[in-house]
Amino acid sequence: WPAFADDVDAIIELKKRRNAVVLAHNYQTPEIFHGVADIVGDSLALARKATEVEADVIVLAGVHFMAETAKLLNPSKTVLIPDTGAGCSLADSITPEDVRLLRKTYPGVPIVTYVNTSAAVKAESDICCTSGNAKAVVESLGVERVIMLPDEYLAKNIAAETHVKVIAWAGHCEVHERFSADEVRQLRDNHPGVVVLAHPECPPEVVAEADFSGSTAAMASYVATRQPPRVVLLTECSMSDNVAADHPGLEFIRPCNLCPHMKRITLGNIRHALETMRHEVTIDPSIAERARLAVERMLSVG
Ligand code: 13P
Ligand code: SF4
Repeated sequence: WPAFADDVDAIIELKKRRNAVVLAHNYQTPEIFHGVADIVGDSLALARKATEVEADVIVLAGVHFMAETAKLLNPSKTVLIPDTGAGCSLADSITPEDVRLLRKTYPGVPIVTYVNTSAAVKAESDICCTSGNAKAVVESLGVERVIMLPDEYLAKNIAAETHVKVIAWAGHCEVHERFSADEVRQLRDNHPGVVVLAHPECPPEVVAEADFSGSTAAMASYVATRQPPRVVLLTECSMSDNVAADHPGLEFIRPCNLCPHMKRITLGNIRHALETMRHEVTIDPSIAERARLAVERMLSVG
């Protein structure tokens, strides 16, 4: 902590001066997550809580699509992202033209788009979802078939939980696609009794080997309520660090994969963002209106 004290103190002071809040995703490092964040959570919680922010400025400690979602829901506020290079392999896997083509190929089939996409892709979609509400969103539409993009594995994992037929796209999360079913079996051999929690962006064969699958918030809440003595979270590395800090009595096994995009955000660039008021997230108004509708439809699903 002493190494971070300077930046933490400066950020706390700057937040007051700018009337700003820091929203941090569960994959942010502990010094951000526990040190300077005002609001933390999974993608769904960050979207929901963004609508309740009263401060003038939101600093999004997360990746670009999260900052765009916060801006869509708070057009009058200044939304800053500390590093514009904080992207996402899923968001990069699909373009608005791809979505328009899918609509032509499957006329009348609703398009459910994961929030891990650009605002331009959201604008071509009927409704958004996150890993925390994907099943509820798909079932809320009351149809036999949906297109679910761009995460192939999330789509297949959700398809396994519902009677709705799901047409998938071939995008993958570069962090979660690296886990394998073999790795899970080895974990169980090496750490008897370990409880395995997997994010639904993992391949279906990994989810099939796990004890539980859910969004980052659902995994944190599983640990908090069930208190598994020995547990592994098959997801981004900082997630285990953050959850472990809240549960010192539990043993966390730590095979994890780093998200290079999430790791672009540091205390240093959060401080710089507040000092310089950069980088401001803006969205073309012709896109924003339609993209907002897709996100708001999602938020209206219980
Ligand atoms: P959730 O926090 O919504 O589960 O999403 C995980 C993720 O990979 C975000 O980029
Ligand atoms: Fe994107 Fe995967 Fe990183 Fe999340 S963990 S931001 S889905 S690349």
